[in-house]
Amino acid sequence: MATNRTFTMIKPDATAKNYIGGILKMINDAGFRIVGMKYTKLTKEQAGSFYEVHKERPFYGELVDYMSAGPIVAAILEKENAVADFRSLIGATDPTKADEGTIRKIYAESIAANAVHGSDSDENAAIEGNFFFSSLERF
Ligand code: RTP
Ligand code: MG
Repeated sequence: MATNRTFTMIKPDATAKNYIGGILKMINDAGFRIVGMKYTKLTKEQAGSFYEVHKERPFYGELVDYMSAGPIVAAILEKENAVADFRSLIGATDPTKADEGTIRKIYAESIAANAVHGSDSDENAAIEGNFFFSSLERF
């Protein structure tokens, strides 16, 4: 059964450019409620572990370096059909292929530095939320 929660990160390129407020406004305006949120910075080890599924991909080293290069905002979001609707809101991985009006079209600089993360399934949303938040940190 589909759950109504997803997990997101505002990535280091976007926090460095002061896009946190603009991105959170788009998330709220699209009807997502923030259930948990923290401003933090990943160590290389934590970034490597979070993106373990991509270990064999050619961009893994670059991805881990980039995701641990600066602060991020991690959040759990709630809305009906959260995972699919949030993927629609953020747009394609490559911002040059993202639809007009999506977060990545507006805020991402490249396929690697693409402003936001969004979970790709209910199962991964739960795993990723648990990576950052204890049960007392979600509301
Ligand atoms: P995400 O997991 O961050 O929401 O992104 P996604 O599902 O749209 O894309 P995914 O295939 O899961 O890739 C994870 C992240 O790896 C970086 N990437 N770099 N240099 C490259 O060709 C490349 N391809 C992917 C991006 O930061 C991407 O979001
Ligand atoms: Mg992904």
